[in-house]
This record gives sequence, C-alpha cells and structure tokens, in this order.
Amino acid sequence: MLVSAREMLLKAKEGKYAVGQFNINNLEWTKAILQTAQELNSPVILGVSEGAGKYMCGYNTIVGMVKGMIDTLGITVPVALHLDHGSYEHAYKVMEAGFSSVMFDGSHYAIDENIEKTKEIIRVAHEKGISVEAEVGSIGGEEDGVIGGGEVADVNECKMIADLGVDMLAAGIGNIHGKYPENWAGLRFDVLEEISKATSPMPLVLHGGTGIPEDMIKKAISLGVSKINVNTECQLAFAKATREYVEAGKDLQGKGFDPRKLLADGVEAIKATVKEKMELFGSVNKA
Ligand code: 13P
Repeated sequence: MLVSAREMLLKAKEGKYAVGQFNINNLEWTKAILQTAQELNSPVILGVSEGAGKYMCGYNTIVGMVKGMIDTLGITVPVALHLDHGSYEHAYKVMEAGFSSVMFDGSHYAIDENIEKTKEIIRVAHEKGISVEAEVGSIGGEEDGVIGGGEVADVNECKMIADLGVDMLAAGIGNIHGKYPENWAGLRFDVLEEISKATSPMPLVLHGGTGIPEDMIKKAISLGVSKINVNTECQLAFAKATREYVEAGKDLQGKGFDPRKLLADGVEAIKATVKEKMELFGSVNKA
C-alpha cells in the first residue's frame, strides 16, 4: 500500500535518521529500489520528476506500476510515491492519479504567490491524506529542465511556509542537483541550524544528495534533515555497470542481448547504491 510521507518523516526526525527519496525512471529502477527497501526493512520514497513522469507514459501508468509491484513483490515497508519539483498544475494531476505525496516547488514565485499556491495545494492534498513538500530558496543545478541558481533560503520565508502546515520543507543551503563542482563551498550548516530552530519540528529535506560527503550528510541529519533526495548517483551507477557489460562484449555472448540480461548489472548497481545510502542515512530496520 502507498502511504503519505508524513508519518515516516516525523518518525525519522524524532529518531535522528533520514528517509531516502530515490527518483525512478522505469520499471527496472522502481523494482530495484522497492526490493532493496524491503530487504533492508527501510521506509522509502519514490520520486518522480515531471520529465520522468512524461517518459514513463504519465502518472496513471506509474501509479499502476508501483501498486502492482508492491502487491506482486510482497512489499510491506512504507512506500510513498512522490512528485518531485512539481508545478502547480502537475501537483493536481498526480493527486488525481493516486500519488501519496507531492512536492509543490513554488520557489521561483515571489514569496506571497508561493504562499498562496502552497496553501491551496495543502488544503486539497490533506483532504485526501496526501503529504506536501514545499520549497524555499531554489536548489542549484539543473534537473529535467528545472534550473535553480543555488540560493540560500531566507529563514523568515522558511518559517512562513512551514507555518502553513506543509509536511516537509526543502530549503536551499548551497546544495545543487547533479555532480558538485570541484570548487563547491559545501553546505551552509549555519543556515540549516537557524532554519531548523525556526521551523521545528518540521522535517527538512535535502535535495541534491548525489556527491555530498558522508560527514556532511550525517551533520545535516543531526541538524534536522529527515529526507534526502538521490537521483544522479543511481543514474551514474547504472550507466557505468551497463557500459562495462557492453564493453566486455557480454551482449555478444549467447543470449546476452536479452534486455533482462543486458540491464541486469545496471539493476544490481542501482541496488548497491540504494543500500549504501539507506545505511548512511540510518533508515535500515526503521520500517
Ligand atoms: P541528485 O540528482 O543530485 O542526487 O538530486 C536529486 C534530487 O534532489 C531530486 O529532487
């Protein structure tokens, strides 16, 4: 069964660990993440960007696929199906389709408009038991055409949005999507600490989980981060393993061209990445 992300994140905040949001791209991705979560007895959030939603033939297809897998694979750990960086229109679309959680990214609007739109989405979502993530201060880098400048969030704006009753809050603290540049200055823990104090007990979300050093991840969790988003790292792991398979000529041996064989090493690489993150985030055995 799909669940809202609210309870699992409140529990994570209290227990000082974080739940991973892993973005999905196709059937193999989804299956790999769900199986790993079950094996490690960890709660999990499946993230779907608008671009990935379009790629996977729309939100209804995704809801059908995820529910079908939960049933067929016997997944009993809490699973939230979450729209990542949703626009106002798509937030409504996924709620209709049956997602259990939604991010409305109004960070590019002026704060007043971000507040108005977030408020409306909270009202509709909470009537259906769907959790809501809001964003203040855009996350740097580019993800599926959503480009952010890497702002550092304003603490007062964070408090204003948190007070609306969102279930989790993403605040820019120097984090960016994709690989971090050599000269990256690191996370702004001073700002995170202030936001955390001002919005307590709101679970905070750290986007751009790929490539953040382990000690920074642990410190961020100790300062109130309860959800960490990872996307690029699974993609890199999948691509590397698949490239190695082809470069070793394995697709030319026997039935190595069968997609179930061709993609198998990539799937194992996704599983290994998800496992590593769940262990680092501390969500193992917290289902
Ligand atoms: P990465 O691709 O950098 O891991 O970021 C994922 C993310 O924040 C999804 O919203």
